[in-house]
Amino acid sequence: MKNSMSELMKHLNESVKYIQSVCEAQPKVGIVLGSGLGNLATQIEVEKTIDYKDVPHFPISTVDGHFGKLVFGKLNGVAVFAMSGRFHFYEGYSPAQVSYPIRVMKLLGIETLLLSNAAGAVNPDYKVGDLMIINDHISFFMPNPLVGSNESLLGVRFPDMSEPYDKKIIEAAKKIGANFQIDLKEGVYTGVTGPTFETHAEYKLIKAVGGDVVGMSTVQEVIVAIHAGMKVFAVSVVTDLGIREDNNIITHEEVLQAANAAEPKLTKLLKELVVELVH
Ligand code: HPA
Repeated sequence: MKNSMSELMKHLNESVKYIQSVCEAQPKVGIVLGSGLGNLATQIEVEKTIDYKDVPHFPISTVDGHFGKLVFGKLNGVAVFAMSGRFHFYEGYSPAQVSYPIRVMKLLGIETLLLSNAAGAVNPDYKVGDLMIINDHISFFMPNPLVGSNESLLGVRFPDMSEPYDKKIIEAAKKIGANFQIDLKEGVYTGVTGPTFETHAEYKLIKAVGGDVVGMSTVQEVIVAIHAGMKVFAVSVVTDLGIREDNNIITHEEVLQAANAAEPKLTKLLKELVVELVH
């Protein structure tokens, strides 16, 4: 076990070394773009793009709507490192692989992580296209990526999770929402493994336990980011209404379409937010 963890550090160092060898930028802000939300990357004044397949030990994304590129550049004048396309547990990656890029970001010097995702709403007040700031999460049978021996170079054995989503960043985002008339909900993200969408009974259960939206990503990345001492902010784009019972069939195409349609609002929010982060 001990050996496999040092193997992890060895791999991480090789990934980081490769990235540093092709790109000199040293951003402090990392961004993870969710399903159908990769267009935000087009707003980045690109300094360097790196294909995942060129980074040693990086997983490769297999899902439609995910591009599979690391983008270094300036978003609204602020140096950022964006992952266009993420890895999901349902693709067959281990939780440690899903969260591997977050650790790479940490070792590259990223201090604040902004994540986005597509999610289904179980809060009946939400509409398709709404943005929801995540203020807490429930891991709904998503395996914890920290299971296994702890790599103390990355973080402590028992990380506190009482406030994974940074309150100050949430407040800054809400101010931006008010200033730019972006309606922002705020609530709890429920992380599931997928790849099936939920049954009606499951959507009801998720609502009953306190979830507002449900999705197949983010939780494992956030756990690893908190373990590594990063500040985290995350937003869900509501792409479907899981709680509706009338002939409500949910498809991946519909999710991508709704995410694309709402993407300009998310882009605006993140463009303004990165400026606040460096002030
Ligand atoms: N459930 C789970 N994941 C999702 C959903 C959903 O309804 N919509 C987008 N991702």
